[in-house]
Amino acid sequence: MKFILFSDVHGNLEAFDTFLERIESIQHDRIYNLGDIIGYGANPNECIEIMMERDIPSVVGNHDDVVLDKYEPEMFNPDARRAVLWCRDQLTEMNRDYLRELKDFIWIDSMLGKVLIVHGSPMDKDEYVMSRWHAERAFVNMMTRDIAVAFVAHTHQPCIWAQTPDGAAEFMPPPEDGSPVALNKSAKAIVNVGSVGQPRDGDPRGGFVVWDDVAHVIEFHRFNYPISQAQRKIREAGLPRFLSERLAGGF
Ligand SMILES: [Fe+2]
Repeated sequence: MKFILFSDVHGNLEAFDTFLERIESIQHDRIYNLGDIIGYGANPNECIEIMMERDIPSVVGNHDDVVLDKYEPEMFNPDARRAVLWCRDQLTEMNRDYLRELKDFIWIDSMLGKVLIVHGSPMDKDEYVMSRWHAERAFVNMMTRDIAVAFVAHTHQPCIWAQTPDGAAEFMPPPEDGSPVALNKSAKAIVNVGSVGQPRDGDPRGGFVVWDDVAHVIEFHRFNYPISQAQRKIREAGLPRFLSERLAGGF
């Protein structure tokens, strides 16, 4: 089966629309969103409504939680905080209800066994997997819970953490030439799917992942989208200027 996995749209309608057009030409059986539909971008309601209309299964992200007042954005940087508070005022009641219904995890039965979809980490949905230490702890957790593969996001930086025979985590960035990555079927893997609406790996193009569970092959996809339109809307909404600038730099 072929899966499309994407995340962190962050209210960027231009990136989301382009992504949806792009995947029309990619054969796939299922599609999943890994959270953070809103926050930062100028079109939170529109992005939620597309998720709803297309019935895309989604897990909750930390921005989705904060916008619902589940907790206050104290740990957010000032720009993220301003954006999420702005978003609280914008969301319709129906869209708020949609976010409230999102689950923390989605489980998939695959050819490789149990697969976990979560915004942050297999350990904790709000934790970042951003170092070998995080990944190795997560592998221990995955072994006790019999999880073959975990798909995560949250860092906005696509990559793979692959388990080596001695249980260590090997960091694998997306190949520069876009070639697919074949993974060891008998080892654990944590795949970060990157971000559609606010990439932070120095490449401003939106990103997502295609996974073939039979071959256990990951493809990292990138796409150009009308960044200047998304930037203009952020400025016109009165959101912090930095949120507009970072889209062009991919940071
Ligand atoms: Fe995010």
